[in-house]
Amino acid sequence: METVREEYTLTPPELKDILNMSVQGVHHILKSQKIKTILDNKKHKIISNAVRQIFVSRGYKYNNEVIAFQIVKGGTGKSSLAHSLAIRANQYGARVLCIDLDQQGNLSQALGVTDPSYDTILDIIKKDDPIEVEQVIIPITETLHLIPSNMNNSVLDKVIQIEQGPLQYIFKDVIDKIRNDYDYIIFDCSPAISSTNTAAALASDRIILPVNPDQFAFEGLKITIEEIHKLNSKYKRSAPLLLNILFNKFDARKSASSDYLRLLMAHDVYKNMTLKTFIRDNTDISNSIRKKLSVFDGTKNSYIREDLDILCKEIMGLSDFFATLHEN
Ligand SMILES: Nc1ncnc2c1ncn2[C@@H]1O[C@H](COP(=O)(O)OP(=O)(O)O)[C@@H](O)[C@H]1O
Ligand SMILES: [Mg+2]
Repeated sequence: METVREEYTLTPPELKDILNMSVQGVHHILKSQKIKTILDNKKHKIISNAVRQIFVSRGYKYNNEVIAFQIVKGGTGKSSLAHSLAIRANQYGARVLCIDLDQQGNLSQALGVTDPSYDTILDIIKKDDPIEVEQVIIPITETLHLIPSNMNNSVLDKVIQIEQGPLQYIFKDVIDKIRNDYDYIIFDCSPAISSTNTAAALASDRIILPVNPDQFAFEGLKITIEEIHKLNSKYKRSAPLLLNILFNKFDARKSASSDYLRLLMAHDVYKNMTLKTFIRDNTDISNSIRKKLSVFDGTKNSYIREDLDILCKEIMGLSDFFATLHEN
């Protein structure tokens, strides 16, 4: 299989941290499970499938979850956070599919897919001569895949409104065919209240709403959550939709950050939706993405790398799992 780039990997020290053991312990596991590492500049690197094998051997079960990054306000970090989560989860052994729904194609570009001629989700759902979902999926690596987006998707919303049947099946039918091939399917949405985003919400198990410490983001949050609540009452779901607010671009030196954090934590409803992890404001994220890298392969000691790692562990339930494993 021709992939866009080489595998995302973890190093033994990273694995040691999550497994709560010594580096020697990690090397012992690698040896006893006959796991081959890649040697890069004399450093060992462990590919996603091997990390998966180690986690599974210790009893960790990968979730099967569809997550959408949505909020009507642009620039709050949907694409950057979806990108970071996808890559970190993949490094932690998850099989991940990203579905880019934004015609800007920021997530596709960040993953190194810049060719505007690629087929997109539109080519799967259109009535006239549709193609199979498998034909549209691009393997970024063996275990991290992408359904890309580009300007052709500017008509996606119109096609969904005019040509399609009930919104709750449009993406769900596509996903049902491939759901078992992945642990995480991650939608990156455009900043809009649109039929496309409704269809994505209806196909998701969890929506992550990134907010920034500013008034517009908070207004966007209110509108988006109201809209999702309307969907929940209009369409029957087999399981409840999990809504998570993610505080992004937090800067302790700025009073707006603490003010908006206080606002969030004082809110009866929002406080229970807010993820424990906050992501601090740090340009390492944009610098890495510009180089078609993530903070996990583009930086070593960056505090946003730390935050995004904790976010991934929170979503995957990794810290809790390995912490309790150790107590027993
Ligand atoms: N935590 C952060 N710190 C600094 N810059 C950030 C952070 N998160 C996102 N950004 C930057 O903010 C801009 C908008 O992010 P993006 O992910 O494109 O937002 P959206 O997809 O919601 O429009 C980008 O330039 C991105 O690099
Ligand atoms: Mg975006």
